[in-house]
Amino acid sequence: MKNIVILISGGGSNMAAIVRTAQRDSWHTKYGARVAAVISNRADAGGLALAREQRIDAEVVDHKAYGSREGFEAELAAAIDRHQLSLVVLAGFMRILGPGFVSRYAGRLVNIHPSLLPAFPGLHTHQRAIDAGCKVAGATVHQVTAELDHGPILDQAVVPVLAADTADALAARVLTQEHLIYPRAIARLLPQLR
Ligand code: GAR
Repeated sequence: MKNIVILISGGGSNMAAIVRTAQRDSWHTKYGARVAAVISNRADAGGLALAREQRIDAEVVDHKAYGSREGFEAELAAAIDRHQLSLVVLAGFMRILGPGFVSRYAGRLVNIHPSLLPAFPGLHTHQRAIDAGCKVAGATVHQVTAELDHGPILDQAVVPVLAADTADALAARVLTQEHLIYPRAIARLLPQLR
């Protein structure tokens, strides 16, 4: 079985889209794959309840409980590795991961970022796109490397930036596309994973 572990920090709508697609498209039969666990660094992440509703193992590894990033990442890796993992999916996981963690899961670690990378890595992507006068914005699914919001691009989606857009309005438009491209990119990766 190819086990997917999804890391979240908040609402978990990308995680839910992946779980929905896995069920709808029978990833279990097609790829021998399943979402084995959802792990959040915040106990109040809304996505945890969504995962539990789907009877998916939902855990919290609270970064605030550790004195250092290394300590937090060691515990996070231990929680992930309990699942005989094939793929780690960052879905709105809002902690920067260090090089040790990234190299441990090299080739098996993917992220979605709400901009058309390499434009606007980091935070506040939607406001920055509006402020720059961008006519289009979007989202990028990529392999994770040690550099923040970099790495080989697996898929992208483009949306228009409208004249009256607020950051929230643009974020909502981008998010609907994230829900399409993230499950699709993962489904394309699964046959290559062990
Ligand atoms: C998504 O827009 C995702 O791209 C973004 O956080 C949101 C999480 O939403 N991720 C980042 O900004 C990572 N740097 P969700 O919890 O509903 O999936």
